[in-house]
Amino acid sequence: MKKLVAVIAGAAVVAGSALAANGQQIFQSKGCAGCHNPTVDTVGPSLKKIAQAYAGHKDELIKFLKGQGKPKVDPAKFAIMMPQLNATKALPQDQLEALADFILSHK
Ligand code: HEC
Repeated sequence: MKKLVAVIAGAAVVAGSALAANGQQIFQSKGCAGCHNPTVDTVGPSLKKIAQAYAGHKDELIKFLKGQGKPKVDPAKFAIMMPQLNATKALPQDQLEALADFILSHK
């Protein structure tokens, strides 16, 4: 299984954009788009702002999506975001990677 994850992570470097497209599907099907616009802050911060905060720290972003990280974009509003993590924390690693790639593609 570890090997499989490594293969998927390796493939992500090559096929990053394909994974990001899959991440977009997850983002939309989980209702994230209702609060996160690509460029404008709405209920939640824009994807651009999130991508900038996590640039070069995909591992930390995945940790946050697993419900194990601390909010750093807009901690005062974390009470709104916290229940949303129920939709992401049980996702398999490859889907978390795809979702993180999609979010990070907005910087
Ligand atoms: C009901 C509105 C709402 C929905 C739906 C929502 N979010 Fe959020 N999100 C917020 C708010 C408000 C914040 C700002 C608080 C914070 O920074 O944690 C936020 C922050 C974030 C952050 C930044 C975390 C940080 O370090 O501060 C990420 C990443 C994120 N959301 C991802 C998602 C994903 C993925 C989904 C779909 C599963 C989602 N959000 C659904 C409102 C929402």
